Amino acid sequence: MAAPGGAGPIGPYPPSIVGEEAQVEYDKVRRRVLWTLPYGLYVVGSRAGERRNGMTLNWATQVSFEPKLMGIGVEKTALTHELIAEGGTFSVNIISREDRAIVRKFTKPVEVDETAKTLNGFAFHDGVTGTPILDQAVGYLDCELRQTVDLGGHSFFIGEVVDAAFQADEATEVLRMEDTRMNYGG
Ligand SMILES: Cc1cc2nc3c(=O)[nH]c(=O)nc-3n(C[C@H](O)[C@H](O)[C@H](O)COP(=O)(O)O)c2cc1C
Repeated sequence: MAAPGGAGPIGPYPPSIVGEEAQVEYDKVRRRVLWTLPYGLYVVGSRAGERRNGMTLNWATQVSFEPKLMGIGVEKTALTHELIAEGGTFSVNIISREDRAIVRKFTKPVEVDETAKTLNGFAFHDGVTGTPILDQAVGYLDCELRQTVDLGGHSFFIGEVVDAAFQADEATEVLRMEDTRMNYGG
């Protein structure tokens, strides 16, 4: 994973911030402001050929009504980045609040059992795009990649929702960033 918040103080700085000490302090405050943004927490599925992966991600949002587009911010060093760039699809798995432990299981490349159809022991099936979808996800958005925006350390992958469904009761409370002690961003 990239260093949380980036490596060292990162500009630009407002005019009132002068000198290294002030820049370091400003960098910390800006990080805390960014951390206050409320996020959901998801497992993103990806696939290129027979290589499949699942990864914990909070930088996900709908970005258009018509067409129905979802955007996700993915680190360039992540296996998921390679698989989405190559395979041209991704799935956003919406997780039950009760399954919060799951997010810790998807913070590095997963072990795939193609016979048992599991990712790190969690049952999956392939969606209409062929991308893995966790059986225990409350719902999912299966997406075809439409655009990739280069953001430096990350890429913003924009995908069109080609299939979406609930797999559990629609009223199930879904996982949010505040349900874990972990953070990402800033
Ligand atoms: C709570 C949490 C949220 C995360 N959110 C993101 C995210 O939005 N984008 C991202 O690229 N990585 C995110 N990560 C880091 C990835 O889960 C991690 O880098 C993972 O190793 C990449 O997986 P991969 O190499 O298996 O594809 C997050 C990690 C945690 C613990």
